[in-house]
Amino acid sequence: MYEQVSHSLLNQILDELKPDIRKRDLRHFYTRLGANFYAIYSLFHNLYGKRDDFVAQMVRLVEVMATQYINRANELKKIDIEREQHHDWFLSQEWVGMALYADGFNGNIEGLRDRIGYLQELGINMLHVMPILECPRGASDGGYAVSDFRNVDDRIGTLDDVRQLGADMRRRNMLLTLDVVVNHTSDEHAWAQQARQGSRKYQDYYYIFDDRYVPDMFEATMPETFPETSPGNFTYDDEMQKWVMTVFNSYQWDLNYSNPAVFIEMLDIILFWANQGADIVRLDAVAFLWKKIGTTCQNEREAHLILQLMKDCSQVTAPGVLFIAEAIVAPVEIIKYFGEDAVIAKECEIAYNATYMALLWEAVATKNTKLLNQSIQSLPDKLDRATWLNYVRCHDDIGLGFDDADIVRCGYEPQAHRRFLVDYFTGVYDDSHARGQPFGRNEKTGDARISGSLASLAGLEYALESGDETAIDESIDAILLLHGMIMSFGGIPLLYYGDEIGTLNDSTFQFDETKANDNRWMHRPGIDWSKAEQRRRHGTVEQRIFDGLKRMIAVRKSTPAFADYNNRALIDTDNTHLFVFIRNNPSVPNDRVLVVANFDGSPQSLTISDLGNRGYFEYGQLRDLYSGEAPRQYKDQLVVPPYRFYWLTDSGL
Ligand code: GLC
Repeated sequence: MYEQVSHSLLNQILDELKPDIRKRDLRHFYTRLGANFYAIYSLFHNLYGKRDDFVAQMVRLVEVMATQYINRANELKKIDIEREQHHDWFLSQEWVGMALYADGFNGNIEGLRDRIGYLQELGINMLHVMPILECPRGASDGGYAVSDFRNVDDRIGTLDDVRQLGADMRRRNMLLTLDVVVNHTSDEHAWAQQARQGSRKYQDYYYIFDDRYVPDMFEATMPETFPETSPGNFTYDDEMQKWVMTVFNSYQWDLNYSNPAVFIEMLDIILFWANQGADIVRLDAVAFLWKKIGTTCQNEREAHLILQLMKDCSQVTAPGVLFIAEAIVAPVEIIKYFGEDAVIAKECEIAYNATYMALLWEAVATKNTKLLNQSIQSLPDKLDRATWLNYVRCHDDIGLGFDDADIVRCGYEPQAHRRFLVDYFTGVYDDSHARGQPFGRNEKTGDARISGSLASLAGLEYALESGDETAIDESIDAILLLHGMIMSFGGIPLLYYGDEIGTLNDSTFQFDETKANDNRWMHRPGIDWSKAEQRRRHGTVEQRIFDGLKRMIAVRKSTPAFADYNNRALIDTDNTHLFVFIRNNPSVPNDRVLVVANFDGSPQSLTISDLGNRGYFEYGQLRDLYSGEAPRQYKDQLVVPPYRFYWLTDSGL
């Protein structure tokens, strides 16, 4: 949009740019800057307009964008332009992701490069490599306490290794996702060190207070993130003799985004990683970016403005690069991280679908889909040009972030229901085969979350130990069922490393003092490659899971109805054990897939004629895309075996 005030400011800024920037041919940069400048100016002004140095800060902001544009390799600029031309490229069903720790997967980044073939064998073409940046030798929250944002941790590799990995992946048409931990730094970061030594400039990078007066005001309404290991939201720093805000662990200092210098530094870092070859940048803990007394300090309006500003600026320099929002918050809040716009994602193009993940686990525990159906129905449609990251497990705990009103609508009492779920997955009940552990138990509120590997939570650990063949079959079916749901729901499925071969809980973290008090390490395994080899032996657990997923991925990729264009309709059936929805191919009429999943331990039936208007599926004409076979039917009753799912089609028969 053209608007006089911002336009004249833009001209002034261009005049003030350093001569070495002005001399360059920055055609694409300037056209994009012109297009986004009004938005950038408005957002920056909204956040920082009252400061005397506003214009100087804007000049600095544009300089950072321009310098990173100049540094951007031609190969990456070409990709930017291709993606501008095919702007909904990431909504395609062809993307299937996996998140992994490079060291846990195969030692380091070089080891990971050696095993890209394994990922391709499975069908993975998008990789989230968990934090690789320099972090303290002791506890570092799995790399989420960064001490140098521009250096790779030498235990994992070098910057050159990352560039090589990016290049390898581009050649194979795979996407690379890297983390930028935007909310906090390690207390060993140079900014924190200088703040400690008394630098006012760097103390302003954080929330630092002389006494408890302001911290106590914040604490009155802030929840605790790690109540057991890091209670409260402030830590006293002996050296500085001041209090610093530490929402996560005591060694993770929250950055102060009310200071524009912090915003500009972090944007520079995001663009730096975009220039190292990241196709997607995962922005960690984005709900926490703005702190305000009297609030929970989560999901504040300004946190959204910061993300919009990051997106607008990043589109100028590296428009092909996508953002993932990691915002594990209430269902109605998560969707806002796409940006509240009619069409385009104004903040992050991709967001973790933590709601769906938790609901799937809830359905496993209750063996019914009441809450799953209810909650999905309560959610608004996402934006057209945005997509979910659908996952079953990741490196974090499972938080039970459902909407209380939905729980009540299903006839449960919210607190008791959540307690039941934690108890179920931590094996308190005799009929539960799950082997998880409670995480982040808060004695004051009674809240808890759940740790554990997918396979152990799904009962495989118990089944293997007891040698119970039926239980083994059931847990494998449950593992495949959950993946069947993330592959077909709409969005990019994100597998978690080790799950493809049924990796069980790892208890060795208890012997490492830097990890022992954080049981999320029980599901951050080191891959046992001899176990992975078992995928080639027919009938092994590894082969059954690996091949099941491989087939699912291949079918997903060739099923356009699974692309994510808000082309899903949930179907209410009178069978509360079933989760049923239809996916339509937006470009081909009548090309659709009926997804039917049974979360119960007994066979369940679905009456095809009950599908109502959408029930154009003909009796006797159905085929399951996943197994390639016709499902069991009796007249118009479709029978779904325990813990199984169908991807049914009636076209192409
Ligand atoms: C994100 C990460 C989690 C980490 C937290 C603090 O939620 O996924 O692992 O503990 O941020 O950085």
